[in-house]
Amino acid sequence: MGDKITVPHIFKMKQRGEKITCLTAYDYSFARILDEAGVEMLLVGDSLGCVVQGQPNTLAVTMDEMVYHTRLVARGRKRALLIGDMPFLSYQTSREQALQNAGRFLKEAGAEAVKLEGGVTMRDTIDAIVKAGIPVMGHVGLTPQSVHQFGGYKIQGREKERRERVLRDALAVEEAGAFSIVLEGMPLELAKEITERLTIPTIGIGAGAHCDGQVLVIHDMLGLFDDFTPKFVKRYADLKNTVAGAAKEFIGEVKEKKFPTEEHSFR
Ligand code: KIV
Repeated sequence: MGDKITVPHIFKMKQRGEKITCLTAYDYSFARILDEAGVEMLLVGDSLGCVVQGQPNTLAVTMDEMVYHTRLVARGRKRALLIGDMPFLSYQTSREQALQNAGRFLKEAGAEAVKLEGGVTMRDTIDAIVKAGIPVMGHVGLTPQSVHQFGGYKIQGREKERRERVLRDALAVEEAGAFSIVLEGMPLELAKEITERLTIPTIGIGAGAHCDGQVLVIHDMLGLFDDFTPKFVKRYADLKNTVAGAAKEFIGEVKEKKFPTEEHSFR
């Protein structure tokens, strides 16, 4: 299966020009399957607010919920680097609180790194967390926790001024000491420029093919979640219909007294 993936390993993958893969996971069973499949990073994303909790956005997700789900994923993962996503207002209110909450992912849940959204304004916060020995993954561009400021989930960096802002954000994240950065929802040329200018790996989602790696929300790529499907999502499976089909077959067999049979019974 290969060696345990560590932060230096992810960094070296960029230097070697090897593409990096990351998927979200929120529980033990999925973590185990994805880890055994060979994904290098597992992100317990605050996207769980939408795909697990059924909320319209990620804003209501709490630290306790993130720690709980990260703990479940930690039990199923052996090799992948495990990253906990810092939820809205767990790191924006003060550096001390950011440090305490980042530490909870490592102390209470078994994560090896944390992710947080923001660039220039988060430079000192990232710096403080990194100085405490906690690896940080940055996240710039379409940062979902700022959905109301953006007026929706809109591609960032199309206009010159915004493009420069996203670039400044990415540079600030690297300067602050992050080990990698998610580039979300931006034109592929901008993601290419950022990827070329940064020494840390860029992990894209809706940011084109030039990034050093790619991340997808597991429920999106498996076709489990279809409340909305962004253009950048590729469906690798159609599990919603597979699950619905299996459930219907079960219902039919129970009603028709075809299940359970002798094979599934005890004497
Ligand atoms: O919350 C999440 O799952 C994320 C990824 C999509 C990068 O932030």
